[in-house]
Amino acid sequence: MKKIKTLTAALLSTAFALNLQAQQVMTVDLSKPVAKIQPAMYGIFFEDINFGADGGLYAELVKNRSFEFPQPFVGWVPFGDVSIASESPCFDRNPHYARIINDGRRTRAGLDNEGFKGIGLKAGEEYRFSVYARTPENKPMKLSVQFVNSTNDNLLKKEFEITGDEWNKTEFILKSPFTDAHSRLRIVLLTKGTVDMDHISLFPVKTWKDRKNGLRADLAQALYDLHPGVFRFPGGCIIEGNTLATRYQWKNSVGPVEDRPLNENRWNYTFKHKFFPDYFQSYGLGFYEFFQLSEDIGAEPLPVVSCGLACQFESKELVPLDQLSPYVQDALDLIEFANGPVTSKWGKVRADMGHPASFHLKMIGIGNEQWGKIYPERLEIFVKAIRAQYPDIKIVGTSGPSASGERFDYLWPEMKRIGVDLVDEHYYMKPDWFFANASRYDNYDRKGPKVFAGEYAAHDYDANEPNSYLSALSEAAFMTGLERNADVVHLATYAPLFAHIDAWQWRPDLIWFDNLRMMHTPNYYVQQMYGMNKGTDVLSLTMNGKPVEGQDSLYATAALDAPTGELIIKTVNNRMTPASIQIQLKGLKKKSKLHSGRCTYLQSDNLQAENTLSQEVIVPCMRPVTITRDDVLTVELAPHSFEVYRLQFSK
Ligand code: AHR
Repeated sequence: MKKIKTLTAALLSTAFALNLQAQQVMTVDLSKPVAKIQPAMYGIFFEDINFGADGGLYAELVKNRSFEFPQPFVGWVPFGDVSIASESPCFDRNPHYARIINDGRRTRAGLDNEGFKGIGLKAGEEYRFSVYARTPENKPMKLSVQFVNSTNDNLLKKEFEITGDEWNKTEFILKSPFTDAHSRLRIVLLTKGTVDMDHISLFPVKTWKDRKNGLRADLAQALYDLHPGVFRFPGGCIIEGNTLATRYQWKNSVGPVEDRPLNENRWNYTFKHKFFPDYFQSYGLGFYEFFQLSEDIGAEPLPVVSCGLACQFESKELVPLDQLSPYVQDALDLIEFANGPVTSKWGKVRADMGHPASFHLKMIGIGNEQWGKIYPERLEIFVKAIRAQYPDIKIVGTSGPSASGERFDYLWPEMKRIGVDLVDEHYYMKPDWFFANASRYDNYDRKGPKVFAGEYAAHDYDANEPNSYLSALSEAAFMTGLERNADVVHLATYAPLFAHIDAWQWRPDLIWFDNLRMMHTPNYYVQQMYGMNKGTDVLSLTMNGKPVEGQDSLYATAALDAPTGELIIKTVNNRMTPASIQIQLKGLKKKSKLHSGRCTYLQSDNLQAENTLSQEVIVPCMRPVTITRDDVLTVELAPHSFEVYRLQFSK
């Protein structure tokens, strides 16, 4: 009896496998696009978490350059007679500076800076050192600046002089003779006497677009290469702060960089098992740099501001309704900063920083992951004020911290009532959830606000490999559902963007880096393949009359790219065997026939595979597509693959 059962099971499973291997038919209808795809649809979300800004995208190599950390020598190792002072400061809003005294008896008085888990220096690369300094002595004071490697060898030394009792900036270029991800910067006062120093800075000369106060070129390039349509900034919980006092205040992040006051980073003590007492925000990468980068990478800026609620997971502090106006004014002023004429107060600040032209801001987010009645009460006040002054600006509200549940169910109707344009949804879930939710938006209300999937990422925690290929594949599958529902899902941004390999708080992340290198995750390539192949119009794609959203572990979506006339088909095969598919094209224009095509794909039989800084094992590959019939494409989807077909027609 047992034998018969085993035999039956074996036969059944063979039949099942054969059936799966039999050709399946998908139909794409080219005659009538079913929805428009927003040009900004797929984008990025940047938050200063995981040392994403200071120590990451922001190329400054010196930590605590202004001595404003509450413990002012954090990041520094002073030696000899070094103290902190604040009389007659160089910068009003960053008043502390280091006073170095060489008493003439010893040659050692100065300080080392440790950077962000070290300073990354590359042999042959140039670095711009700068410092504001003064001396009460009536003579030139000699100092040296040195590059020290991780084995404590001082391999570069340059002497320089400062003079005068007024603050003056000294700046020069140093070329590193060595490569080391964990170097230090050392400054030594050589002459007997006193020197005050502030805003001690070291930047690679080669930054993104060679800008001073610039961004790390490799990391910014990685953003550019994603072809992002939208750029959400600066948070996330960062905008809320743990307390209202530590919320992100955009006005502190613009103007001369030396005078942007320091803010605590709310990710410093958030995770009890991962404390980062040295995590602060210099605001060197501030709102001007954000708008400029958005412009550089061709993404629509989407700034988010505090709605008057500090993080509801933390302090739960709130601004009383009758005291909300400064917060509302901040939102209005931010729009003016981005778009206002140079004659306006904030438009002038932008122009003075080097960008007289408008940044063409089109939307703004109010609040992050808020919940409860206290949120809509505040949001309504913002909406009224913004609509009155800037009726064309789209407003993004939120549905709380999760993809469903009481808070979510309460907030969506509230967002409709208030009439926001988009609702931000966040979901960090397991890969299974992503595979199971490709149909999430199929039944969303088409008349209400549009969806902004503002933070999502599959967490492969079970495998302790958060950026595994499995997580990326599940996101690719889920995103077919975003695209199929492009009439209701207008924007989507993966989260978070960056993580320093030695200083992260949160996984998964799109891009990992250390002080010298960076790595694209498999998830990055999924985002990139969507970003580069979004098309303009969704087409109906069905299998057995239904959208392909998980049947037989297959996912698919089709789009037309109007400017090129190409048909783009995205498929995910989440099974261990190949899938043989016949894609029949309906509604082809007269005389038009399939001509050529190429397929960009990600594939791995190892679902736990991850990319590392030394090797990217999951990377997109490309192959030509063989066309054998005018209106039918026969393809074999590789096991565990995400494939994007771009097909051309001839007339
Ligand atoms: O991206 C990390 C955090 O996740 C964001 O700050 C927050 O919005 C979400 O909970």
